Amino acid sequence: MNAHYLARQICKLQIPFESGSVHVWSAAVPLLAPILNDPESLLSREELDRVDRFRPSGKKQEFLVGRALLRMILGSYCGIRPASVMFCYGHQGKPSVASTPHTSRRIAFNISHSIDIIVIAICEGEEIGVDVECLNYLGDVTPICMDILAEAEVGDVLALEVQQRRHAFCRYWVHKEAFLKQMGCGLSIAPRDVQVSFEGPGRSEISCPGHHPRRRIFGLEFPTAEGYVAALATPVQNVVARLFDVGAALH
Ligand SMILES: CC(C)(COP(=O)(O)OP(=O)(O)OC[C@H]1O[C@@H](n2cnc3c(N)ncnc32)[C@H](O)[C@@H]1OP(=O)(O)O)[C@@H](O)C(=O)NCCC(=O)NCCS
Repeated sequence: MNAHYLARQICKLQIPFESGSVHVWSAAVPLLAPILNDPESLLSREELDRVDRFRPSGKKQEFLVGRALLRMILGSYCGIRPASVMFCYGHQGKPSVASTPHTSRRIAFNISHSIDIIVIAICEGEEIGVDVECLNYLGDVTPICMDILAEAEVGDVLALEVQQRRHAFCRYWVHKEAFLKQMGCGLSIAPRDVQVSFEGPGRSEISCPGHHPRRRIFGLEFPTAEGYVAALATPVQNVVARLFDVGAALH
């Protein structure tokens, strides 16, 4: 399988949006290795220069594979070739699809990488944020709880046995980071200033009273690979996530 085959297969998918839904694509990075043989055919000159100049070597592959997959998936939704997708960037670097005469739909997306998994969330209209984290790469989270979590959240996590804290911490973390990415500010706001209130299985209401007192954002956890925790953040309450696996879609 080469990069062109992969691009063609994904571009053929053309899955329609239902209202109030977010499509979440997960991919295992090793599956996308063919992209690394020919990134020039998919990425822009500016992206290739950027990866050479700014990324530490371990992060280059992550960017190349993620950006190529993102272009394939966005190309499929926008009905254009992956290489024709144009991006623009917010003040803190959040990428969006630039509107062009060929893109009549307002497609919003966000991408997250962690170790071997890439997650891309896409919807029509509202800004979204997504985050995935690998549990195995966290040690004992007890010492970092105070830095990352709000006061009540620290109490929740520290009330658990040490072995259960990592998962509980990670749940808070992905909801917070998805929120910060939804807003486009990323870690320019401290995660401990973001408050997550869990409201049912995998659902949360997320707020940031010190910086954005009126903003109501909703979090939704979704399954990806074993050993990973992931969530998306959206202004749409009771949003429905439709999950797609790139590997399964290619067979
Ligand atoms: C957004 C941020 C939290 C992502 O952290 P990370 O640990 O690399 O996490 P993820 O893998 O989950 O997300 C990376 C993706 O988020 C997207 N992203 C970058 N900045 C973003 C922002 N401000 N808001 C939302 N998404 C953003 C990008 O698509 C990026 O992937 P790419 O570089 O392959 O395109 C972090 O980069 C950040 O805080 N950025 C804003 C602050 C900053 O650095 N500003 C200066 C740059 S202008």
